[in-house]
Amino acid sequence: MRPFVYHNPTKLYFGDQSLRHITAEAEKYGKKVLLVYGGGSIKRNGLYDEVNELLNQAGCTVYELAGVEPNPRLSTVHRGADIIRQEGIDWVLAVGGGSTLDCAKAIAAAAKYDGSFWDIVTRKATVQSALPLGTILTLAATGSEMNSNSVITNEVTEEKHGWASPHVYPAFSILDAKWTASAPKDHTVYGMVDMMAHVFEQYFHHDNRTPVQDGFCESILRAVVETAPHLVNDLTNLQYRETILYSGTMALNGTLSMGILGDWANHDMEHAVSAVYDIPHGGGLAILFPNWMTYVLDDNVARFRQFAVNVFGIREDGRSDREIAEAGIKALREFWNSIGAPSRLSDYNIDASRFEEMAEKTVGNGTRGHFRELTKEDVVNIYRLSL
Ligand code: NZQ
Ligand code: ZN
Repeated sequence: MRPFVYHNPTKLYFGDQSLRHITAEAEKYGKKVLLVYGGGSIKRNGLYDEVNELLNQAGCTVYELAGVEPNPRLSTVHRGADIIRQEGIDWVLAVGGGSTLDCAKAIAAAAKYDGSFWDIVTRKATVQSALPLGTILTLAATGSEMNSNSVITNEVTEEKHGWASPHVYPAFSILDAKWTASAPKDHTVYGMVDMMAHVFEQYFHHDNRTPVQDGFCESILRAVVETAPHLVNDLTNLQYRETILYSGTMALNGTLSMGILGDWANHDMEHAVSAVYDIPHGGGLAILFPNWMTYVLDDNVARFRQFAVNVFGIREDGRSDREIAEAGIKALREFWNSIGAPSRLSDYNIDASRFEEMAEKTVGNGTRGHFRELTKEDVVNIYRLSL
């Protein structure tokens, strides 16, 4: 294992009725709150009204930033930060999916930074402080509810990058499966792909002797593989929703990366695709990840064999380790297909015309990933496999 420091300050309220904790939390952070949300799903499922009522009970004045886009944009971050400065807002409450949460993190930090927030995203500057942030999650996917990451798109330059700061861990996050039950099938599926991809990014490494971490990863993957087929046929089943909600949080709250070096090349490759084509993050990952697996398989056949056996229950049946590993990758592709995830870039009408440019956006001036350090040529090859 590698040496590590672990500190996660987010207070999690999970389960039935957990929304009621918002009043006690609101009292800690001040009377003026900026409510950040997306395109209106929270109005349709009743969450907006309930949140407003509870905030009013807590004596809060609620200001709003509505319309955060999937793949949230830099201009929206600046819009939110302007409201905070003009109105003297005390804290930020994000209600929605990962895009809304990520945008709210950026807003909370941008309000304390004089200059373009892109400086922070591109590491020209670092976050020194941020407003307190609370979140109410409505889509199980990113893990943003319990991590310090945020992904922002610069719509002018067509770049999309993650950034992180200890200042933007949510102070608290409220997770009740009930509020995820209105998520449509496609976004539910993208979310499940995304959380599995987060596990993969932390599972495919070359460090030895990580049996506890491996077990955590495999347990989350098996839970999603077992639950997803039921959930896609029964979208309002709260027991399935709850399993998936918990899986999403645990997949990217720092637990799985203790003592290991994660890969993350697939995320960089996908962010380049969605920066240019504005596709859903989980959809892009479903297309790329199995092709990356095939591309790098020979770097560590044993690791892929372990995945095949422990997650998909692939039997030996006299096959070689490599054949078992390949069967695991095939099982993943078939599983994602079976729940309705896309499998080719052409499913989004993406052709090869911008592969070089996207590969450059992925690797910058260097390489990406640790399982194998991918060059620009490698990335183009993986995009080609994904056409
Ligand atoms: O905008 P609204 O109207 O709320 O609708 C959203 C949106 O259209 C809808 N939705 C969410 N909850 C719903 C619902 N519709 C009905 N009922 C509900 N309960 O779903 C659509 C997608 O929402 P979005 O927030 O974009 O999805 P997701 O949570 O997958 O977030 C994706 C973003 O997160 C980034 C991605 O790159 C992408 O920008 N990521 C963030 C990470 C992080 N912070 O740690 C890590 C990830 O790897 C990822 O990169
Ligand atoms: Zn992701």
